[in-house]
Amino acid sequence: MAIRDILKMGDPRLLRMAKPVPSEGFDSDVLHLLVSDLLDTMVCANGAGLAAPQIGVDLQVVVFGSRDANPRYPNRPLVPPTVLVNPVITPLTRAGETGGDLPEELDWEGCLSVPGLRAQVPRWSHIRYTGFDQYGDPIDSTVSGFHARVVQHECDHLWGKLYPMRVRDFSQFGYTEVLFPEIAPCK
Ligand code: NI
Repeated sequence: MAIRDILKMGDPRLLRMAKPVPSEGFDSDVLHLLVSDLLDTMVCANGAGLAAPQIGVDLQVVVFGSRDANPRYPNRPLVPPTVLVNPVITPLTRAGETGGDLPEELDWEGCLSVPGLRAQVPRWSHIRYTGFDQYGDPIDSTVSGFHARVVQHECDHLWGKLYPMRVRDFSQFGYTEVLFPEIAPCK
């Protein structure tokens, strides 16, 4: 277990398409250590989530959620602690439905790889996500709102996307200390 350095925007390792974990990689010492390091690093930095590429590991592994409220995102619903490997996201028209218009919503996001900044980022309102936990057991979840936003943000790291690449209105992009002086600065 270790707290790892978090790569910052500008590092080309954040722009790669991460590799899927191969079937023999599940429930392995290497994967358990990676998950442990991701969780330790996320908790230490008060992150809502963390993706393996953010600590320089080129694999499709993300962790997100917490049992307690997150000081970087006060007043947001709790997202259950989750380890998600080889994820697939499907946008939904409404919870549990496909087909038709895919509603989006705007909300503020930050990122441990883009410290000190926040922006309004459009995300799908409703998604289904599938994948596996670190033991290889399947995950299949349908979520909305902040939970859906966190999943989309973390999985974007696996496709080499950082949230500023999703921003459409750059008048809604600024320093956290100016926009939200009540939020504790990133550690
Ligand atoms: Ni991020």
